[in-house]
Amino acid sequence: MKLALPTLALALAASTSAQDYNQSAPFNLVIVSENKTVDGDYLASCHSGAGIESLCLTNQPSTSKPDPTPASVYQFNTTDTGATPNATIGQSGYLTWELHGADFNVSSALAFYFSYSSNVVLPLFYPGIDYSTVVPVAFDSNNLMNIQDYVIDTVNPPTYGDEKAYYRWYACTTYYLGYTYVNLAWTLGEAAPQNPTCVKVDVKRVFV
Ligand SMILES: *[C@@H]1O[C@H](CO)[C@@H](O)[C@H](O)[C@H]1NC(C)=O
Ligand SMILES: *[C@@H]1O[C@H](CO)[C@@H](O)[C@H](O)[C@H]1NC(C)=O
Ligand SMILES: *[C@@H]1O[C@H](CO)[C@@H](O)[C@H](O)[C@H]1NC(C)=O
Ligand SMILES: *[C@@H]1O[C@H](CO)[C@@H](O)[C@H](O)[C@H]1NC(C)=O
Ligand SMILES: *[C@@H]1O[C@H](CO)[C@@H](O)[C@H](O)[C@H]1NC(C)=O
Repeated sequence: MKLALPTLALALAASTSAQDYNQSAPFNLVIVSENKTVDGDYLASCHSGAGIESLCLTNQPSTSKPDPTPASVYQFNTTDTGATPNATIGQSGYLTWELHGADFNVSSALAFYFSYSSNVVLPLFYPGIDYSTVVPVAFDSNNLMNIQDYVIDTVNPPTYGDEKAYYRWYACTTYYLGYTYVNLAWTLGEAAPQNPTCVKVDVKRVFV
């Protein structure tokens, strides 16, 4: 049955016009962690290049951000794919943030930046939406942000199952284009992040 369904990415990519999305009410993103230093901290969009923003922790000082910053407001874009989403793990869509220029505003969708040498992925907002790097996320029934996949490659031979939610979020000190922040990051696979600064976190949506 899975084979008959287009992947979400393809389904979303098929909708090229912004009008094809329903956009949620605005919300903040809050860190939930057993680590008291980062627990309860908010996420903000932090300048990481021309029109590029990472998701940094508002109260964690870093070389590029010595002082606390205010939380940013995000929204969630979904499109009706025809499939009934699993309400427990949530419907996949795109996390969006509006870039405000001097005389323009651009809605940007969260994308993944992969470095060639690390299993730690840096989520970034690039201006607009690039379907080759944009990452579908979902919010589960507890408002926790997850990423879903149905491929299982930890068995031989690799197989597939129902869409499963993963919560591989970390708060890590990262370096990208000269900017060093304590950022929200994602780890590929089951292994621990190789970046020794990473602290396990969850990300919770709180409507403003
Ligand atoms: C909690 O997080 C802070 C900030 O990332 C880190 O310095 C500290 O070592 C962490 N504590 C534990 C117990 O992991
Ligand atoms: C937006 O939501 C409405 C009401 O639920 C639905 O009828 C419509 O199909 C949705 N549009 C898209 C593009 O998903
Ligand atoms: C929805 O996802 C949950 C958590 O993975 C799972 O336990 C449940 O069986 C799923 N429900 C359906 C209808 O697939
Ligand atoms: C951009 O958004 C801001 C805040 O919503 C608004 O005040 C401003 O008029 C917008 N600018 C343009 C060019 O649409
Ligand atoms: C999100 O949806 C809104 C409403 O349809 C649209 O204006 C905006 O451009 C979309 N953002 C992205 C990054 O596609």
